[in-house]
Amino acid sequence: MSRPKFYVTTPIYYVNDKPHIGHAYTTILADCLARFHRSLGDETFFLTGLDEHGQKVQQAAEKRGMTPQAHCDDLAPRFLQLWEKLQIKYDDFIRTTEDRHKKIVQLALQKVYDNGDVYADEYEGWYSVAEERFITDLEKESGQFREVKQIKERNWFFKMSKYQQQLIDYIQSHPEFIQPNHRRNEILGFLQKPLGDLCISRPKSRLSWGIEIPFAKDYVTYVWFDALINYISVPGWGTDDAKFKKWWPASVHLIGKDILTTHAVYWPTMLFSLGLPLPEKIFAHGWWLIGETKMSKSLGNVVNPLDLVDQYGVDAVRYFLMREMILGQDANFTIELFTKRYNSDLANDFGNLLNRVSGLIGKHFEGVVPVSDKLTESENEIKNMADGLPSKVKELIYNLQMNDAIEAIIELVRRVNRYVEHQAPWKVIKEDRVRAGTILYTATEGLRISAVLLSAVMPMKTKIVLDVLGALDSKPRWGELKAGTKLKSHEALFPRLEIK
Ligand code: MSP
Repeated sequence: MSRPKFYVTTPIYYVNDKPHIGHAYTTILADCLARFHRSLGDETFFLTGLDEHGQKVQQAAEKRGMTPQAHCDDLAPRFLQLWEKLQIKYDDFIRTTEDRHKKIVQLALQKVYDNGDVYADEYEGWYSVAEERFITDLEKESGQFREVKQIKERNWFFKMSKYQQQLIDYIQSHPEFIQPNHRRNEILGFLQKPLGDLCISRPKSRLSWGIEIPFAKDYVTYVWFDALINYISVPGWGTDDAKFKKWWPASVHLIGKDILTTHAVYWPTMLFSLGLPLPEKIFAHGWWLIGETKMSKSLGNVVNPLDLVDQYGVDAVRYFLMREMILGQDANFTIELFTKRYNSDLANDFGNLLNRVSGLIGKHFEGVVPVSDKLTESENEIKNMADGLPSKVKELIYNLQMNDAIEAIIELVRRVNRYVEHQAPWKVIKEDRVRAGTILYTATEGLRISAVLLSAVMPMKTKIVLDVLGALDSKPRWGELKAGTKLKSHEALFPRLEIK
């Protein structure tokens, strides 16, 4: 029997932007999901990358007196360095300027054209350079769009409207397709109005930095038609049938709520036209707000993830972002919230449990894991909780409830801490060494299982814990901790932070 497969994607980020915690968040989320799935034995493919074409890139390059390609080559490493620092283990990284992608975009354009789904038309309307798209009169009047100008030109259009009913039927018969549910309703609402056709070309005279349209050499393709194709160009559509069959459809496209329409309307209709199955799920998460306001360059409140990692370490940053955001809702970032979460979950709960067990085993058992003898009700409670945890976490992860999965694991840690306090092995040792050994084995085993389960989120610190316990490649199964193991010495895992 073939193993279950898991193919997860992040949006491909605009190369022009400086990576901020919004980008870091989605990428860490994809990484944690991918690590969980790998640890469950699923065949996993995690794709991320960069969106390098379009007007903004061309203009930014001109300003710097560089070619757009040189400009992209100069900026791309900022993302790669950040991913390395954040311990992101992607399976492939696509840049849309790579040949392997460009030729597939052209293949897709040609197919859609051959199907009769593309036509040319004269178009006159308002165009927002900042948004890189035509906007309606209403949108122009809203004043929310920058760099708006009147444009009249001949362009190529994709018959998106043709697929409107098919898309509505699909969404209605696949409740899992767009998540969370309020986003699904948003799209169904949007689809109640007639869907226009999508302008998919830009004349080279106005914009040359893009992929040339194979049937209209004076045009390049619209950046979204180019970018979305990455999800199929990388896993081999048009070049490697076996690979493509293995990975497509994607298990989940992770996106932010602001790019829902492009993913839940443009992309499915493109796939319909190409005769390809739709991704299993599109999940739109909320925004990271900085103390309740939107993060934006002009407000100067953009949080740089590299600074955070330098100051607090990669695991704490990953933990905070994953634990704090309820998937689908907006979340707040402030240093106070970060410090509070760090101190309560990481310093007081998880780090403290390691300190306690290694301290007590060091003091009373020469640093050697004691034997677990007869279990009483209290030990069985911990054991039962730990035994049930992997399947509970698995279910939550399959449901994309990352914060709940983490909470369930930390709940075990808290429970074990309370158990140690209550059992007071430092007192029991005076009368009953065997019983004290059982208590410490139970606590250490609880710690080990939580560390194994948390390793997708905090790969570095959990590795330290498991190394101390001599259990680096162990599974989250009760009893894998070996009595007789000499514990390694270690430093405080998460030293408490001072609240400023
Ligand atoms: N290039 C397009 C995506 C093409 S995918 C085929 C793009 N790039 S982006 O760099 O502007 O944004 C990428 C992602 O960052 C989006 O999912 C967006 O929601 C996310 N975020 C940008 N700011 C954010 C926050 N403040 N918080 C969380 N995510 C945010 O769009």
